[in-house]
Amino acid sequence: MSRIRSSQFQAKVMSAADAAMFIHNGDNIGASGFTGAGYPKVLPGALADRINEAHARGEEFSVGLLTGASTAPEFDGVLAETGGVSYRMPYQSDPSMRKAIDQGITGYNDIHLSHSGPQVRQGFQGNLDVALIEVTAITEDGELVPSSSVGNNNVFLECADRVILEVNTWQSEDLEGMHDIFYAPMMPPNKVPIPILHPGDRIGEPNLRVDPDKVVAVVETHDPDRNTPFKPLDEDSKAIAGHFLDFLMNEVKQGRIPKNLLPLQSGVGNIANAVLAGLLDSDLEDVVSLTEVIQDGMVDLIDSGKLSVVSGTAFSLSPEYAEKMNDNAGFYRKYIVLRPQEISNNPEVIRRLGAISCNGLIEADIYGNVNSTHIMGSKMQNGIGGSGDFTRNAFISSFVTPSVAKGGDISCIVPMVSHHDHTEHDVMVVITEQGVADLRHLPPRKRSRLIIEKCAHPDYRDQLLDYVERAEKTSSLHTPHDLREALSWHVRFLETGTMKA
Ligand code: COA
Repeated sequence: MSRIRSSQFQAKVMSAADAAMFIHNGDNIGASGFTGAGYPKVLPGALADRINEAHARGEEFSVGLLTGASTAPEFDGVLAETGGVSYRMPYQSDPSMRKAIDQGITGYNDIHLSHSGPQVRQGFQGNLDVALIEVTAITEDGELVPSSSVGNNNVFLECADRVILEVNTWQSEDLEGMHDIFYAPMMPPNKVPIPILHPGDRIGEPNLRVDPDKVVAVVETHDPDRNTPFKPLDEDSKAIAGHFLDFLMNEVKQGRIPKNLLPLQSGVGNIANAVLAGLLDSDLEDVVSLTEVIQDGMVDLIDSGKLSVVSGTAFSLSPEYAEKMNDNAGFYRKYIVLRPQEISNNPEVIRRLGAISCNGLIEADIYGNVNSTHIMGSKMQNGIGGSGDFTRNAFISSFVTPSVAKGGDISCIVPMVSHHDHTEHDVMVVITEQGVADLRHLPPRKRSRLIIEKCAHPDYRDQLLDYVERAEKTSSLHTPHDLREALSWHVRFLETGTMKA
């Protein structure tokens, strides 16, 4: 049976090239896609061709690109390579897009994911001309069955002047019923409380609504999500996972959190995924997760029977796990709720349910400030994503990282972060393969000693202690720093290729 079950929408089926003609120079596009899941697969390529042809004729053609989060080479990549993306918001992780951002071709607005939808509604992101949304199916009533991510799709469908749909038959039909779309007033002063009392609560409708009159084209595809494999677990990531688990079990022992923990949030990337794998070795039962992305580790926890439910907004699976999800979506639907990102990452819900957050970082400093986004203070890696939504509001906020990067030439624990995403006021626990620094009860001078002792790599400990001792001598103030030296580690790396003195 056709996935397009409404005749009204059947009549709008056309090729991607024809659908791309509805996108014009200067348009602001709101597209589906979140951590490589649920992005339109063929429309971006067709649009890139259109932009390249216009440029070849010497004509202007650029667009603004708004998504849920990161997409894939066949979306962010092909569009960035045209040089025709003038604006990008929010999280991305594509090498070509990073390059366009760093070169200043694309203006990147790296905002919190929970802010992105509301800012579109408020009009701060400009008029939304077109929405490009991947769906699994269109029902007889013209409702849209979401695919492997929800992200900002509800907002884009609501706000865009024109809508183009990609119906992707690669996505499992059994995804139908996994989603929970909350339709209620979401703008102050009429905003209503979000009635989620438990991560598994369903508070909305399974499908997305769209005004059929706004739909100008429907395109059919059968293409897989990006699904990048995770790096295999190494000794360091196993050690990090072990420390995280020990920390949690001690919290249980101290009576600060229940035996089945509090709702877990796990960030993007290899290390966050490795941490989840570590939980498999525990005696934990009936764990729940209030998170943003569902990585391989989360699926393993469901399979092991340890995780009873996970609330998120998107999958971020390896190819093997994406196949598994596609083959068994009917089974996993009992354990997974995919929501709009304004709900999955909602600060009020995160704070009230008492999430335990666990995110990766680029570097942390000796006082507990964290840089999640910039290499050496200037070069964009990915973006803040939802790490701020969760860190700022978690009951316990933690960050995980190997203590060194680039074969040991970079210490991920530095005197002062070269870019600031999460402040010492929000960061409670830092974990590396060396150990755990629990900063919750410590003033700055004690924090610095603990982070160096527990988290820094032995190759950098003396160097960091030397910095602290000298900073304390030159400045007897609350947070001792020697500002002439604070960023000298980064300067040394840029000049010599290593942070080692
Ligand atoms: N200086 C320079 N480069 C560094 C570095 C540092 N201090 N620390 C890490 N890197 C580099 C690594 O070498 C690696 O480079 P490569 O891709 O060239 O191999 C890259 O950064 C990623 O590091 P990796 O150790 O593989 O970590 P990861 O996959 O766990 O990702 C972040 C770490 C910080 C990039 C990732 O977690 C992220 O994008 N975070 C921000 C968004 C977020 O937290 N979202 C969660 C919301 S729910």
